Amino acid sequence: MLETVELSKSFKGKMVVDGVSLYLEKGESVGLIGPNGAGKSTTISMISSLLAPTHGDVRLNGKSVIQNPQIIRNVLGVVPQEIALYGELSAYENLMFFGRIYKLSKKELESKIQEVLEIVGLRDRQKELIKTFSGGMKRRINIAASLIHDPQIVIMDEPTVGIDPQSRNHILDIVRILNREKGTTVLYTSHYMEEVEQLCNRMYIMDHAKVIASGTKEELGRILSNEDTIILQLDAYDDALIHDIREMESVLQTEKTDEGLKLIVTKQSRILSDIVQRAEQHKVQLINMNVHKPSLEDVFLQLTGRTLRD
Ligand SMILES: Nc1ncnc2c1ncn2[C@@H]1O[C@H](COP(=O)(O)OP(=O)(O)OP(=O)(O)O)[C@@H](O)[C@H]1O
Ligand SMILES: [Mg+2]
Repeated sequence: MLETVELSKSFKGKMVVDGVSLYLEKGESVGLIGPNGAGKSTTISMISSLLAPTHGDVRLNGKSVIQNPQIIRNVLGVVPQEIALYGELSAYENLMFFGRIYKLSKKELESKIQEVLEIVGLRDRQKELIKTFSGGMKRRINIAASLIHDPQIVIMDEPTVGIDPQSRNHILDIVRILNREKGTTVLYTSHYMEEVEQLCNRMYIMDHAKVIASGTKEELGRILSNEDTIILQLDAYDDALIHDIREMESVLQTEKTDEGLKLIVTKQSRILSDIVQRAEQHKVQLINMNVHKPSLEDVFLQLTGRTLRD
């Protein structure tokens, strides 16, 4: 339905999106995940024809959006990363303002506003001023504004950043309603792997301007099928010990996390006893050691050398 072909953008000679090809089939929910500065928002701006690519194309049902930007405007709703609402206007007035852009009649618009307020669960708050809303409620109105013209495709750019868990769950439910009940095609951008795992059939992982992996959860999981993740809890994070662990042949990545020192290692029998021995050598006490199958977060760490939230 929608695809990008070798989409690229450079600012002052620096490639910030580099040959990104992705596609969305009708009715799919697809994740776009990557750390700060990966190029996600820039990709979205080019898909929605707000920004001209340096190279490449965006196609809607085979037709170039770059050559005919008007073909995507009525089909696509975008929830921007930055909230774009008028604080001095009520929720209802904001939606009226955005709806007028699509030239809906007053009557159509009136019923559409009530419908989108229902989807985002804020019908009872519509008369209140946006400036009195919480961050999560503003986000939900921002989502409502993107739905006012009944788009077939919705792109959400990190809609859950910086909001409380309750509002976050509300937003995840909105995405489910749109995709599973209304059949809307969704491109969902996030820093949170667990959100993308819950909501999306497939995902693209972006890093440093490029798509570095894509596929279903199962397909991406197979990237680390011969590896294990080990979490070490130590009484002290001794640099010399961490250095020695890093130097071990089967250790592919190390990362300090809230749970402890995380290692991604190739499966082999000696690794646990090697770690115990090194800890003893450095007089560091091992409080706990936990071996498990790598998660998608671990796949991301292995591919990029970073966690999603650093
Ligand atoms: N108008 C611009 N002029 C120059 N550089 C830009 C411009 N817009 C974006 N960039 C740069 O392009 C890179 C990608 O930015 P982009 O906003 O697409 O990343 P992102 O993946 O959305 O990150 P985040 O998760 O922080 O939102 C960044 O290095 C950014 O500084
Ligand atoms: Mg962004």
